[in-house]
Amino acid sequence: MNDSPHQPVLYKEIIHALQPKRGGRYVDGTLGAGGHARGILEASAPDGQMLGLDVDPQALALARKTLAPYEQRIHLVQASYVSLSAQLAQLKWDAVDGILLDLGASSMQFDTPERGFSFQHDAPLDMRFGPSMAQTAADLVNKLSERELADLLYKYGEERDSRKIARAIIKARPLHTTRELVAVIESVSPRRGDRVHPATRTFQALRIAVNEELASIEEVLPQAIAALRSMGRLAVISFHSLEDRIVKNFFREQSKNLVNSPYERIYEEERKATLKEVNRKPIMPSDEEIKNNPRARSAKLRIAEKL
Ligand SMILES: C[S@@+](CC[C@H](N)C(=O)[O-])C[C@H]1O[C@@H](n2cnc3c(N)ncnc32)[C@H](O)[C@@H]1O
Repeated sequence: MNDSPHQPVLYKEIIHALQPKRGGRYVDGTLGAGGHARGILEASAPDGQMLGLDVDPQALALARKTLAPYEQRIHLVQASYVSLSAQLAQLKWDAVDGILLDLGASSMQFDTPERGFSFQHDAPLDMRFGPSMAQTAADLVNKLSERELADLLYKYGEERDSRKIARAIIKARPLHTTRELVAVIESVSPRRGDRVHPATRTFQALRIAVNEELASIEEVLPQAIAALRSMGRLAVISFHSLEDRIVKNFFREQSKNLVNSPYERIYEEERKATLKEVNRKPIMPSDEEIKNNPRARSAKLRIAEKL
């Protein structure tokens, strides 16, 4: 959530984490406006190379402009980071020095009303990061059963009023616009004087479901570790606890040695740790960064180093 007009979230921290060097090979799996990518390319001048991915053609067009000065050193592809291994095979890159995943939606996506990400603008219920996503938010809202909707809102939005909201959606549908959905949510889950708007969690849940965000993170993490050379680094910025938990658990799991014990009846598969955590606690933006860019406030950066 962090392209122009602000500096990308945790910009200095990302450059510090990835330690780009000349001749290195890097992947930015979530290019957005290309702010982090530019920093990595600058720091790896004159001949560091990058593979940059984004599912959103608008983001890619923006990144292509930002990164025009480095076009000889960057491969830009409209694709999901879930296809990381395949993309690297295509380039014949057998190992890379650093990988960045800056998850979620970009400022550009949030601030483009027609994309339907924001409950503050009236727009079609879309919320797809890119055209390859199979379903829009309207598809989910209008097709799922009451039970499925309630589960989705609870699981991906941690919404306590999930059942009430699901019931109200079923009664009111078909729903086509963000404003219609907001009105339904407000009718059963009025503002309680808390800081967050009652539609916040429902919008988050639908966005995560439309873009299969959690499954995508689970799919990419093992590919990212496999793609790194020894001492190469993976940096992941997440924006909500569901994403961060997946990253944290994966890093913890992969930094443990599992060894066969002859005394155990059930043998665990022998496995050596694949990575070490560079920071045990996530790195968060400074107060100053949050003051300049309030959207940075929930960002958490975790860094792993391939063993
Ligand atoms: C927070 S923004 C990245 C901002 C970027 N770091 C910058 O400096 O401008 C996240 C981007 O990831 C993209 N994205 C989300 N899921 C993706 C996926 N599975 N594969 C590729 N890109 C994805 C979004 O379209 C969005 O442009």
